[in-house]
Amino acid sequence: MATLQPSGEVKPTVPRLHLAFAGRDELLARELVDAYPASSHRTLSPGVFASDLDANEAALPANLAFASQCLVRPTLLTAASVSQLARQSFDALLDTLKHHEGSWRLHVFTHPDDTPPVSPRRCVLVENAIEELLHKKQRRLERTRVKDSSPATAEEALFQVLALAPDAAYWSVTLPSDAQVVGDVVSRFPAGIAPVHDDMRPPSRAYRKLLEAELHLGERIGAADRCVDLGGSPGGWTFIAADRGAHVVSVDRSPLRDDLMEHPRVVFERGDAFRFVPERPVDWLLCDVAAVPERSLAMLDTWLGARLCRVFCVTLKLKGDDPFAAVRDTRALLMKHRARGWVRQLAANKNEVTVFGTALRRV
Ligand SMILES: C[S@@+](CC[C@H](N)C(=O)[O-])C[C@H]1O[C@@H](n2cnc3c(N)ncnc32)[C@H](O)[C@@H]1O
Repeated sequence: MATLQPSGEVKPTVPRLHLAFAGRDELLARELVDAYPASSHRTLSPGVFASDLDANEAALPANLAFASQCLVRPTLLTAASVSQLARQSFDALLDTLKHHEGSWRLHVFTHPDDTPPVSPRRCVLVENAIEELLHKKQRRLERTRVKDSSPATAEEALFQVLALAPDAAYWSVTLPSDAQVVGDVVSRFPAGIAPVHDDMRPPSRAYRKLLEAELHLGERIGAADRCVDLGGSPGGWTFIAADRGAHVVSVDRSPLRDDLMEHPRVVFERGDAFRFVPERPVDWLLCDVAAVPERSLAMLDTWLGARLCRVFCVTLKLKGDDPFAAVRDTRALLMKHRARGWVRQLAANKNEVTVFGTALRRV
């Protein structure tokens, strides 16, 4: 596409991009304006926003901390019944995926999770009805559909239906060609929520943050990995790592739960987590210290600068006056070290975000 400038010069332009985001209501509303100041945004329903991205801002890869899921070019559907909604979604799906040869996923969901505007049961019924139509009329797409939450391939497409009222939903298709712009905010998990199962064994519920980050990252702590867990007490993250067979040095001013203090693969070091430096690089840096974000980021800067870890997962507390400052500083830090990483408010994060990623070698 090209436009004629007043000078007579023909200048190529990037088309405007329509997106819808689902996430934390007030924080996401503010983050959209902060990240895309020249674009227009409006509320579709609590926690769901439509953004009409200015052409220049649309060219920037989106990486939002408070968006759990993103719908590319959302289109409104109105339908009085489950079967009508399924039928219309199916028609849209056929039309948009008819030339798509790779695998694809189907997500039917509502938002937000805690006060859903549509019963989750209705979403399951719509998904089942779409599945039935696929089985009857589209065996090719039925065969290429991915139903688990395994990591996405570069050739994969995602068809989403976001139900916002019993008679209204948005559908959206994300094609492999969209990945460069929205690859970091379109999640392979329905509604963008990585499924973490309850586990009564760790000594704290903080373990959920680490499991969620691992799922988003597509990397898991494995047997024989070497980990450092800063601010490890009472030991939720240390438990997960040791349980997988990894070796953990856990640093805190307070001790771990008794069984972890005696665990053969756990070494506890009492002291200031921010002063700890490993003797040699480790696989995973874990840090869940409750501290001002500047301290946690300075620590991550040191670790990445000295190439002390391969993978990192660090919790950052948010400051009330400017919750986006920590997010902006984190993005700058990831760029500085050319690390592949995300800063996101996970479902298990309260007044905090988590930065997780892999440290890449400099070329
Ligand atoms: C949120 S808790 C960590 C929970 C842990 N990740 C788990 O899964 O059980 C934060 C921990 O940071 C520790 N902490 C805070 N400041 C610290 C510091 N400067 N050095 C060491 N530990 C610190 C606290 O003692 C506390 O145990």
